[in-house]
Amino acid sequence: MIKVLVTGGAGFIGSHIVDRLVKEGHQVLVVDNLSTGHRINLNPSAEFVKLDIQDDALADTFNRFGPEVVIHHAAQVAVTHSIRHPLYDARVNIMGTLNVLEACHKSGVRKLIYASSAAVYGLPESDMLKETHAIKPLSFYGISKHTPEHYIETYARLIGLDFTILRYANVYGGRQDAKGEGGVVSIFASKLLNNERCAIFGDGEQTRDFIYVKDIVSANISALTRGSGKIMNISGGSATSINQLLRTMCDITGKRFAPVYMAPRTGDIKDSVLDNRLAVKELGWSPEYTLHDGLLETLDFEKQSRTKVEKGVS
Ligand SMILES: NC(=O)c1ccc[n+]([C@@H]2O[C@H](COP(=O)([O-])OP(=O)(O)OC[C@H]3O[C@@H](n4cnc5c(N)ncnc54)[C@H](O)[C@@H]3O)[C@@H](O)[C@H]2O)c1
Repeated sequence: MIKVLVTGGAGFIGSHIVDRLVKEGHQVLVVDNLSTGHRINLNPSAEFVKLDIQDDALADTFNRFGPEVVIHHAAQVAVTHSIRHPLYDARVNIMGTLNVLEACHKSGVRKLIYASSAAVYGLPESDMLKETHAIKPLSFYGISKHTPEHYIETYARLIGLDFTILRYANVYGGRQDAKGEGGVVSIFASKLLNNERCAIFGDGEQTRDFIYVKDIVSANISALTRGSGKIMNISGGSATSINQLLRTMCDITGKRFAPVYMAPRTGDIKDSVLDNRLAVKELGWSPEYTLHDGLLETLDFEKQSRTKVEKGVS
């Protein structure tokens, strides 16, 4: 049993990680300010403290719980919000992470696992983005997710805090908010289940590297004991076009709605695939879900949550 503190554990990815940690018998404390997370996502067997990661009281919470490992997922996650509100984005993602690092230092945490993003790379200069690819973020979000990587590496050097940094591709799965990164799957799921047509920006032939949330969870579980001092891409490692994604979701739901094609969005990247071979080697991990199986579970999850809401079950 490990004592694990999960920041952002009421959010999409963090809550799935908490569920798995609890299932494996670990003692879990969630710190989340519920800005985009929801109480309904909280695992009843995990302790919960409603707190902003920027709060001075964070160190007391860490000291009281005494975590061995911190899995840090709390963040401002919307690229568009970062462009409209760069100060807020930097406060949460940079200063908030710095406060987490200080709390780790003061409470003797052994290891920090940090959720970083493919957004740190910017425009792909090769077909498969390796971790050594140039860092040229296209948004303030990309900057604010990358800057903490420097702080983490420097804390490791100065005070010996162990770490693993995981740069996620487009994550999808149940509980995802349509506003976040990779929100296209949750937007399409919601439209299809409402019997509405889906909008595609551009010709739909742009590709993304989708990864199912349970594969992200298993990478975090491996990182509890492996991947020391490493920065790694966590991705499916293959390209899926938006047209292909929608076709698969239509096949699963049996819905046949032609998409509405809209003008391409400025700044949208044409193709993006992350090389995941370093994580395969260092974490002894590999993605297990095919796109079809991940989407099937996601759509089932979405249908079940709707039924629960209709019946008034929490
Ligand atoms: N979803 C993706 O495709 C994706 C891709 C790359 C990286 N990430 C990273 O994964 C992490 C989780 O993202 P998600 O998609 O689950 O988003 P999410 O919005 O569902 O989760 C973020 C959680 O952090 C909490 N939070 C936000 N600001 C906080 C603050 N100041 N103090 C305390 N809690 C705060 C929110 O309430 C929420 O529960 C983030 O760090 C994000 O940058 C996500």
